Amino acid sequence: MHSTSHSKTSIGGISRDRIAMLRDTEAEVFRKARPKSEAKAGNGLPGFFGGVPMHWMNDWPTPFPILVGSARGATITDIDGNRLDDFCLGDTGSMFGHSPPPVARAIRRQSGRGLTYMLPSEDALAIGPLLQERFGLPFWQIATTATDANRFALRVARAVTGRETILVFNGCYHGSVDETMVRLVDGKPVNRPGLAGEFRDLTRATKIVEFNDIAALEAALADRDVACVITEPVLTNSCMVLPEPGFHDALRRLTRAAGTLLLIDETHTISTGPGGYTKKHGLEPDLFVLGKPVAGGVPASVWGLSDQIASRYAAYNRTKEPGYSGMGTTLSANPLQFATMRAALEEVMTEAAYARMGRLARRLDAGLTAVIDRCRLPWHVARVGARVEFICAPGPLRNGGEAEAAHAPELEAAIHVALVNQGVLIAPFHNMMLISPATTAAQINRLIAAFAAVAARLAA
Ligand SMILES: Cc1ncc(COP(=O)(O)O)c(C=O)c1O
Repeated sequence: MHSTSHSKTSIGGISRDRIAMLRDTEAEVFRKARPKSEAKAGNGLPGFFGGVPMHWMNDWPTPFPILVGSARGATITDIDGNRLDDFCLGDTGSMFGHSPPPVARAIRRQSGRGLTYMLPSEDALAIGPLLQERFGLPFWQIATTATDANRFALRVARAVTGRETILVFNGCYHGSVDETMVRLVDGKPVNRPGLAGEFRDLTRATKIVEFNDIAALEAALADRDVACVITEPVLTNSCMVLPEPGFHDALRRLTRAAGTLLLIDETHTISTGPGGYTKKHGLEPDLFVLGKPVAGGVPASVWGLSDQIASRYAAYNRTKEPGYSGMGTTLSANPLQFATMRAALEEVMTEAAYARMGRLARRLDAGLTAVIDRCRLPWHVARVGARVEFICAPGPLRNGGEAEAAHAPELEAAIHVALVNQGVLIAPFHNMMLISPATTAAQINRLIAAFAAVAARLAA
């Protein structure tokens, strides 16, 4: 039922020959449309290791990276003048659109008042209560990336429990947090394959089980040595895995019983609603993390503590030996972050914006599903709020192991370039598509039509 249709000669139900044909034809179309970009960046951007300023820019399946001229709302225009409907949205950093007007105004306002001073501004007075009200946790800290917020929250978990070990679910991603870089391979925990320069055995202090596997979770927590379980409410960094009914209840019950804290990382699932998946589904995390879009695209993240954890951490701080906590980064909690986060929370991430995003996401989900059914492809669509993914394998997927098997990089790469050539940009990792408040129904229709055209070519 959950097996994928990958084999030597076909991937996701499509023959390798056909995939190669699509890839080659579309690479040529991409090149022809971008003479300026190719001249400037076709052989890499000068001065950068690997030809790009950030290594992920080489993970796009296009023959060379798209050189962006400008981006506004849900549209990117490259330097050759090609317009793209943007469903990648900076892999969630611009989940609420590029340069949302209230955030752009806040940047302009703050730009003349100083950009970082290691002191609060009046905007900070508004943000604490906004976070409390929206996400339900009473105490907050600001950091600059979700990676850091997760790292700091995990430190607090270790500090207050006096335990060293954490637990992650197979297929997870929480940023470049070293101790979460573990995978199950043939049922055995190992360092995530491909880690550069990692000489430690990370499995020594990280347990790993499959998502939705309540029995394995219970067994892993039984020794009462796990400080914290860190998870997304829905696995979005593998092919999307939704929690089965009862999984989150069991996760909370079992962690409480074992004296283990629960860290919910909402960085991607903020697609669910203004208070994230947590608010919508009544989760009760001890620690909460949100990064990426929380300041409308300006680097910022927040992490929250429950009343009980805050009291325990305060008590820990009273007794620990004096000295640096190991949590920091100098530019965190700067006035530009305060100004933009306030604008994003008050004026951009609104109920009305989410209502619109949800409506369009459901339309996209239904449209892509209809195409898959019509073309009789062994694929499916998964969705968490305004985050939609088509997966080139049957579903639903139950865990990270199945998600890994469902991932079809060769096929996905060919599809992505074909979509770009029809004016549609989706995230280079998996087949993720984000709907922002600026996304229009016409853009959704164009995406469905572009997907239908590619699917028809593949299925023909
Ligand atoms: C769930 C989740 N948490 C944390 C992060 C890390 O975010 P950043 O790279 O901004 O630190 C990511 C990045 O993809 C993520 O998906």
